[in-house]
Amino acid sequence: MDDRKFSVLIAGGGSTYTPGIVLTLLEHIKKFPLRKLKFYDNDGERQKKIADACRILVKERAPEVEFESSTNPEEAFSDVDFVMAQIRVGKYAMRSQDEKIPLAHGVVGQETTGPGGIAYGLRSIPGVIQLVDYMEKYSPNAWMLNYSNPAAIVAEATRRLRPNSKIINICDMPIDIMDRMAAILNLKDRNELVFRYYGLNHFGWWTDIRDKTGKDLMPALKEYVAKNGYWVGGDYDKNTEASWEETFKKAADVYALDPSTLPNTYLKYYLYPSWVVKHSDPKYTRTDEVEAYRQKNVFGECARIVKNSSAKDTNFVSDQHSTYIVDLCTAIAYDTKQRMLAIIPNEGAISNIDPTATVEVPCLFGATGAERIAMGKAATFQKGMITEQNSVEKLAVDAWEQHSYVKLWEAFSLCKIVPDAGVAKDILDDMIVANKDFWPELK
Ligand code: NAD
Ligand code: G6P
Ligand code: MN
Repeated sequence: MDDRKFSVLIAGGGSTYTPGIVLTLLEHIKKFPLRKLKFYDNDGERQKKIADACRILVKERAPEVEFESSTNPEEAFSDVDFVMAQIRVGKYAMRSQDEKIPLAHGVVGQETTGPGGIAYGLRSIPGVIQLVDYMEKYSPNAWMLNYSNPAAIVAEATRRLRPNSKIINICDMPIDIMDRMAAILNLKDRNELVFRYYGLNHFGWWTDIRDKTGKDLMPALKEYVAKNGYWVGGDYDKNTEASWEETFKKAADVYALDPSTLPNTYLKYYLYPSWVVKHSDPKYTRTDEVEAYRQKNVFGECARIVKNSSAKDTNFVSDQHSTYIVDLCTAIAYDTKQRMLAIIPNEGAISNIDPTATVEVPCLFGATGAERIAMGKAATFQKGMITEQNSVEKLAVDAWEQHSYVKLWEAFSLCKIVPDAGVAKDILDDMIVANKDFWPELK
């Protein structure tokens, strides 16, 4: 009988996503049994606010699970089976700069897209590499599921710098969209969908979606998306913030560019950058919204739980998206070969794309990690876009490795949403100043 129980470490314990993930883990404890739940963060004060509340939650709902929270890497990373990595190097203060600096130059300012995403990438690389090294030192048999952003650049860096590490880079955007597709089709959930998808992270397309009997669901989905994008409305979207509503609706215009596929929402930034800039307020960006809503609610609710010494009446709910993280752990732990997306070295999965590109494709997950499924050729439109964007991501990692100003300038200039090398240079020079505590000194 398999009576294993697992020890899970959340790295970035102070993240706004932590309580939702803890609830998801507790809800699925029969499927994925826990013996220990640990938090690690390099900001002890921020983490403590979340940890004090989660300790109460765990004690009330699963008293058999040991709970620990630490800022000491050896303590945190020892005796761990799975690491869930969700750090934000530079925190919201730097995310705000990533958004506002490009916008001040008339360019899209976004967490993972364009100059903002590249700037965040150069901060995240050493942070995530350090987590991988701690894991390998203190729990060499553990697996890391990393969703610290920008996942595309982080995955390219770990491919190069830690090629043999047990790290799997993942994203919840396709999960969110597939939940919407299931709702649009009145299906139970995304697990009813058998899909083909290819591209880069935050930069991909569905080419085929069927139900389990093989029935083609693309025609019905396309008809809906052409009119409404991925906006479901009603009860489904009652808590969706206005900026996400805009993104889900805009998918209709993104879809129009290639009616043979269904797009990831993030393609709006690459295909409609002037529209996005027109709809942005350079003084009040997504970070300001997150600080005013998600961060405020999460930290407020944690403080309330601590004050009451009880989480019995909490309004925290299991984060539906994070069920895919539990599914991934379960698939690895029990070798289920469940089919899910990962951000992974291409190695032929998209046959006409550089084998060293870091792509996002469906994989079979089991005890040895992710086995990619061949998606065939990218069409001309996709091949052109993927090749350009992947070069941007590779140049960003080159720049970090080589401390090269010119490589970073090339990355900014090649990026589809930056109009020319002059604007790229202006943004870059402002970003060097803003990131002086995080980036290597560029030569
Ligand atoms: P957050 O700022 O609330 O939390 C991040 C935490 O990481 C903070 O507590 C911070 O102190 C900590 N941290 C920063 N640098 C660290 C380091 N070097 N070592 C240890 N801890 C460190 O951020 P959030 O909005 O909750 O998001 C967390 C991360 O998850 C971000 O990278 C975000 O982009 C990512 N995310 C990814 C996906 C995906 O689909 N891949 C989905 C949601 C969130
Ligand atoms: C999606 C993406 C994540 C990204 C998040 C941003 O979930 O897949 O990679 O971090 O959106 O959401 P936010 O609410 O922080 O703007
Ligand atoms: Mn993502």
